Amino acid sequence: MPSYIVVGGQWGDEGKGSIIAYLAMHDKPEVIARGGVGTNAGHSVFVNGKKYAVRQLPTGFVHKDARLLVGAGVLVDPEVFFYELEHLKDFNVKERVGIDYRCAIIEPEHKELDRTNSYLHGKIGTTGSGCGPANADRVLRRARQAKDIKELEPYLTDVAAEVNDALDEGKLVLVEGTQGFGLSLYFGTYPYVTSKDTSASAIASDVGLGPTRVDDVIVVFKSFPTRVGAGPFPTEMSQEEAERLGLVEYGTVTGRRRRVGWFDFEFARYSARINGATILAITMLDKYDKDAFGVTDFDKLPAKAKEFIAEIEEKVGVPVGLIKTGPELEHIIDLRENI
Ligand code: GTP
Ligand code: IMP
Ligand code: MG
Repeated sequence: MPSYIVVGGQWGDEGKGSIIAYLAMHDKPEVIARGGVGTNAGHSVFVNGKKYAVRQLPTGFVHKDARLLVGAGVLVDPEVFFYELEHLKDFNVKERVGIDYRCAIIEPEHKELDRTNSYLHGKIGTTGSGCGPANADRVLRRARQAKDIKELEPYLTDVAAEVNDALDEGKLVLVEGTQGFGLSLYFGTYPYVTSKDTSASAIASDVGLGPTRVDDVIVVFKSFPTRVGAGPFPTEMSQEEAERLGLVEYGTVTGRRRRVGWFDFEFARYSARINGATILAITMLDKYDKDAFGVTDFDKLPAKAKEFIAEIEEKVGVPVGLIKTGPELEHIIDLRENI
């Protein structure tokens, strides 16, 4: 598959970061490009016992030979960008990162508004990262672009041209989505959504890939979906139940406690269809069945875990190609060869 996109199928935080990190290390794509909204997203990845979280750069940074790109559709917060260059210096990101010169900029005023506005912060429960206000200014055509910021100059590039050139040369291109289908401005639980579409088509557009240039779409689901911020969550369980089942989680960007629910097969089917999923990735299988922890061979999974995977394939109608069974990169079952 010369180009593939990884997107979240639920309300974000499905563990896309850990799936992308595995793909980056295993498939060794030459180019890794990030689409999505901006610094509202946090992807965390566990490498050699150390946890890294990225909000701006591609999670594929773990693969040290890849060109790392941030697509034109993504909002750039220069403060976060420079912080991450420093934070990830062991991975030589400075030498291989490029941001599209057309990315719109998140200004301090955008963050201020996102944190104080009673509708955005109070009612919707935004991340406070300034993304909504920055996208609003972009639509009003008054936002600054990356090319207007002198400090970003060394990193500017035409990401759309780069990803298309890479495909023309037969290289492998991995495209990272952020957030999740339920948070899409178009298809999600409006108005409790983010400030852009988050489906695979939007992610392709963010990095400048036309629909005919995408070979595979990997949609990531976690065994117990979570949601942060307000909005409908039909299969939500009580906080006490989440505690009893050992499912308590906190947000990467805001530190807020995540709401937890039961796997919603009908929602997952709809999400997979609109995303045009060709492969599903299931994370946190060890939270569904403790005996699945760390298993790397499908045949060695306990019966309960296997039945859950079979039920997902049957009800969602797309094959499962990747299964995460624990936090480390190696805690994965890769079935893509059989698809
Ligand atoms: P995305 O926003 O989708 O990238 O997810 P996230 O990174 O925000 O999710 P979170 O902050 O919850 O981070 C995921 C954490 O869970 C990381 O530390 C992963 O290593 C870990 N993780 C990923 N997959 C699994 C899994 O299958 N089982 C367990 N127990 N942990 C996992
Ligand atoms: P905003 O994107 O910061 O405007 O927030 C809008 C909604 O999307 C809020 O409910 C946020 O909690 C949610 N949201 C945005 N990005 C993420 C993410 O990466 N993970 C989970 N929820 C997110
Ligand atoms: Mg996240």
